[in-house]
Amino acid sequence: MSKTVVVAFANNKGGSGKTTTCSNVACAMAMQGKKVLMIDGDMQLNLTISYFDEDTALAFAQNGKNIYTAIKEEKDLSDFVVSTEYKHLDLVPSTSLMSAIEFDLFTKWQREFILKKCLEPVKARGYYDYILIDAPPTLGGWVMNIMCASDFLVIPVEASPWGLFGLANMFEFVGQVKTLAPTLEVLGIAVTKADERKKYFKQTLETLQNTDGARLFKNYIRVDSAVEWSQDNSKPVVAYKKTSRSAVEYTNLAKEIMKYAHR
Ligand SMILES: Nc1ncnc2c1ncn2[C@@H]1O[C@H](COP(=O)(O)OP(=O)(O)OP(=O)(O)O)[C@@H](O)[C@H]1O
Ligand SMILES: [Mg+2]
Repeated sequence: MSKTVVVAFANNKGGSGKTTTCSNVACAMAMQGKKVLMIDGDMQLNLTISYFDEDTALAFAQNGKNIYTAIKEEKDLSDFVVSTEYKHLDLVPSTSLMSAIEFDLFTKWQREFILKKCLEPVKARGYYDYILIDAPPTLGGWVMNIMCASDFLVIPVEASPWGLFGLANMFEFVGQVKTLAPTLEVLGIAVTKADERKKYFKQTLETLQNTDGARLFKNYIRVDSAVEWSQDNSKPVVAYKKTSRSAVEYTNLAKEIMKYAHR
């Protein structure tokens, strides 16, 4: 049996911190000596441009090294992997063509399991310790593919008044996916962009602590301008500014995720 653990970062609420959390947790895991593959599952290609400049991202779109081509042609994902500048950290890039993925999936046989099938040979090789997937802010056939291909879900939630909006829909959707993928497990909720000075932050934490069926990760991520500077430089903050508070927090969150994410 494969030892590779697949974790998706998903929340239908836009801007909840999915990509930033996925990118930094992946890099922090690689810095801890783990072998990690990231998959950019979003047509906004934010995970891809977290590691590469826009020209390189455009080249991945043109030369077919992207998740869209892999899914459309139902190919082994190994052939779509690119190396990042960091040791043991690889990526399957995205492309804006992903905007058509729902249409492309529609005509496929067993369409909820295409990503799972494309990942099987990668998992069978057993090279990676973790595969982390960045999901788009939607709840459709493609996110269903992402969840059906995953062992665990991490749900990043922004500590803001609208951050919890739609969370109930998310859990309802996960419940539906579990009828197809019974082993899928919600690993936990990761609070992002927290501002401890705000009373609202404490209220958010209390609400999330009482969410049935989902652990609230002890390590939350505070707002930090170093995150935006790092993204402007196409680097994860854990590598760009190791001493920043967000770098420390993402590293601790990665350790907490690794503590729970095993079969
Ligand atoms: N800890 C943080 N401190 C400051 N800014 C942050 C932090 N985390 C995320 N951000 C910013 O918040 C915005 C949204 O974050 P991100 O793109 O990770 O969310 P997302 O859930 O992936 O969004 P989408 O739903 O569009 O895919 C980005 O501009 C990012 O730079
Ligand atoms: Mg995103």
